[in-house]
Amino acid sequence: MKDDLLALRDLDDGWLDRRVFWDRDVYELELERIFARCWLFVAHESQLPKPGSFLTTWMGEDHVLVVRRRDGSIGAYLNSCPHRGNRVCTAEAGTARGFVCNYHGWSFDLDGRLAGVHESAAFGREPTFDRSKLGLTPVAQLDTYKGLVFATFDPDAPPLRDFLGDFAFYLDVMLDNDEGGTEFAGGSITSVLDCNWKIAAENFAGDALHAGWTHASGAEAMLGRGVAGLSGDDTESYHVNVNGHCWEFNLDGVGNAATLGDRRIIDYLRANEARFTERLGPLRAKMVGSISSVNVFPNFSFLPGQNTFRTWQPKGPHRTELHTWVLVNRDAPEEVKDAWRKGAMMTFSPSGVFEMDDGENWELATRANQGVVTRRQRLYYGLGSDTAIEHPELPGNVHRGQVNDANQRAFYRRWSELLRAGTWDEVPS
Ligand code: FES
Ligand code: FE
Repeated sequence: MKDDLLALRDLDDGWLDRRVFWDRDVYELELERIFARCWLFVAHESQLPKPGSFLTTWMGEDHVLVVRRRDGSIGAYLNSCPHRGNRVCTAEAGTARGFVCNYHGWSFDLDGRLAGVHESAAFGREPTFDRSKLGLTPVAQLDTYKGLVFATFDPDAPPLRDFLGDFAFYLDVMLDNDEGGTEFAGGSITSVLDCNWKIAAENFAGDALHAGWTHASGAEAMLGRGVAGLSGDDTESYHVNVNGHCWEFNLDGVGNAATLGDRRIIDYLRANEARFTERLGPLRAKMVGSISSVNVFPNFSFLPGQNTFRTWQPKGPHRTELHTWVLVNRDAPEEVKDAWRKGAMMTFSPSGVFEMDDGENWELATRANQGVVTRRQRLYYGLGSDTAIEHPELPGNVHRGQVNDANQRAFYRRWSELLRAGTWDEVPS
């Protein structure tokens, strides 16, 4: 790969090479150096309520099986049989005592060990090979942060807490409550977009600019007004980023809570404002329910307010599989949880008003790079290049103004650092 493609020189000037959205060798390097190396979101603990609970998901293009083991701990393994490679679990989620491969009948227990081989039944004797070497391949590290389960294939990756760094301060706006923590409301949706995964991730990292334009008609149809609360000059709105994790938000609080406009959600947020303030402090309490968007590097995004949580799973340079869930506070009233779930379906699902707006733009933006001449042009990421500030309360890199490209630049800076680094030691912290 040409070094100039990964250079930060252009990015510092606000330009990005279009090949990052198109070239197959860039994509393969992303699988190696980002998806096989970073901590990736694999589950919410609420999806694995008891021993034997499992789900299958993706870490890059590697299919993994995430399981609640008998001792209550969580394990994650490559979902591929060490015999001939077949998937050992073909379900998306469920409860099991173990997993039996459909090809030759080898069975695996909840901690991934090879429990039985069909051969012994067939020949009436023990196999000659060492079973202990033939379990499912586990991830290198697995850890949780306040309900969210992350895993990495890299034994040398820094601990999850260091990978998140000061971004945990912001994550707590969603995850830290005195209502029994959080959970995913029942069900999930999978859909496919013909776009590069980064177009979606960078949108959630900080693209407030598109909201007032792309989603204007959807907001008008749903709420009878445009998307409120976005202003590039607004001193009470920010782009913040830490280690490539990005959050853009304003401090209008419940005032513009949840573009869903559902009274039950707004009433719930208002009724609990004092408790949020006590727990999070006045500044972060105003982030609860304000219009904002987040991407945890590389591909785990959510929208506070709408509470849609999602992963952008890479399926080649021009295809992305989108998995979505809805996060709710565990002890919130059932009608509020239901309002959030339905609201997210109406806005951010394959048939939701806002999701459809975004998908078409991302697909066309990706597809444009098929043209060899178009691909030679660069893309502009220079908005808000003079907006960096020091903030007395907000950690990380802080930029003033919600309409900004600061977080997108931070996302691609981290992307470039990881692609260029041979080991974690070479990745700046
Ligand atoms: Fe799984 Fe043969 S491939 S038992
Ligand atoms: Fe959008």
